[in-house]
Amino acid sequence: MASPEITPESGETGDGPRAGTASFLVLANRLPVRRVTGVDGTGWETSPGGLVTALAPLLAGRTDAQWLGWSGTTGTDEDGSIEVDGISLVPVPLSRGEVELFYEGFANRTLWPLYHDSIVRSEYHRTWWDAYRTVNRRFAKAAAMWAAPGAAVWVHDYHLQLVPGMLRELRPDLRIGFFLHIPFPPVELFLQLPWRRTITEGLLGADVVGFQTEGGAANFRRLAGLVTEAEVNDHEVTMRGRSVRVETFGIGVDTKTLESMAADPQMQARAKEVRESLGNPERVLLGVDRLDYTKGLARRLRAFRELLEEGRLTVGRHVLVQVAEPTRENVRDYADFRDRIDRMVGEINGDYGEVGAVPMHYLHRHHDLEELVALYLAADVMLVTAVRDGMNLVCKEYVATRTDDSGVLVLSEFAGAAETMVDALLVNPYDIDGLKLAIEQAVTMGPDAQARRMSALREAVVASDVHRWADAWLDALGVAR
Ligand code: ADP
Ligand code: F6P
Repeated sequence: MASPEITPESGETGDGPRAGTASFLVLANRLPVRRVTGVDGTGWETSPGGLVTALAPLLAGRTDAQWLGWSGTTGTDEDGSIEVDGISLVPVPLSRGEVELFYEGFANRTLWPLYHDSIVRSEYHRTWWDAYRTVNRRFAKAAAMWAAPGAAVWVHDYHLQLVPGMLRELRPDLRIGFFLHIPFPPVELFLQLPWRRTITEGLLGADVVGFQTEGGAANFRRLAGLVTEAEVNDHEVTMRGRSVRVETFGIGVDTKTLESMAADPQMQARAKEVRESLGNPERVLLGVDRLDYTKGLARRLRAFRELLEEGRLTVGRHVLVQVAEPTRENVRDYADFRDRIDRMVGEINGDYGEVGAVPMHYLHRHHDLEELVALYLAADVMLVTAVRDGMNLVCKEYVATRTDDSGVLVLSEFAGAAETMVDALLVNPYDIDGLKLAIEQAVTMGPDAQARRMSALREAVVASDVHRWADAWLDALGVAR
């Protein structure tokens, strides 16, 4: 689709935006694919994270829809829209400086830690805030330019919290939804933000604001009542005569696709090969995460190490496979975390490994969904030990593939998924002894207890799968399915 009359650059210089032709727009910091440069030139690969896993299949093939986002590079992007994997994409450019100040800075060193219980300290810099506002304005102008009259615009995640308010000013005719994929923090933490009122008002520019859990929605409603003059009711916040729905929309996975992948005989053969290549241990334990300090990986490794040390797990009989997807490597806390995990893995294998048998395998790279499903099928125990997580899709993916009701999920109470996945072995990852007990219980659990828990978990995951989540949003935004 050609760019409708004006380019993002002219939008920036103050030209009034004019309506485009898309009746449904998705705005997220990242496009579902990112541009990569290899020996054969540039191409596209899937972007990391749960947001893309959930949204990309919903948009594929929809001719009424467009996805606006960053291509992951600071090079020149196409002007106008391009089609990749059946989705019409509109790149929103970020300069090198904006990647540093907006993405690595305000998004990932101010907001991300603040919204995850301040696990590491947030930094507050006015230059980062300025970049956040500039980039949010660019997204709002781009959306205003591409959206058809009366279109629905669905804005995603913490990078773009000012967009609903900015876009409403530019295009009051649009229906605007905002969904936060990560936790929304308690008021006591959020109030640290020097720009707390502007962000709250930015979100209240939407018609519907959605959160992963009831706790997040409640935190936001309380905040809105505190920092703005809004009137707050059960599921509604009313400000300056306009009502905003504030609700819980817990995200899920595509259970049907995962089930059919798991049923494929080739996939099952691949899972068998995985177990064989691990030396056919009695129990395979698995972790699959972005290498993020919120995922509780250091605590998981500490528990695993102590269990080996105490002889409660045995090399050869028990193997841990940890898949860690590289993420945000230019952010200092992530680089430090990676060093720490590298060291812990090295120490575990160095101290407890034998010739021909290591306690754990550590795979620090992206894996395709096919590879992950083979690992899910090969794993007797899945470890999800996040110290805070908006939802966590990995635990839902694992459960969706366990169609024979075998396998055990150890799940952190601090993942949004724990709200509905109550038949997992729920753990407090800060309690290392409790975590060790749960891992021990998981590796010794008999088939009947596994089946009782897993069938209940599968019911819960199917009941809240990604299509229900999407349908609820499409209804809220008035978009045809
Ligand atoms: P987050 O959005 O914080 O990364 P989620 O668990 O919600 O966490 O979503 C992660 C998504 O990324 C899942 O769909 C999962 O399959 C995928 N994923 C996680 N780890 C990897 C990995 N090492 N390689 C490839 N994909 C991964
Ligand atoms: O789900 C949380 C999230 O921050 C998404 O918003 C994002 O797409 C994903 O993790 C991956 O992070 P990033 O876009 O910083 O690589």
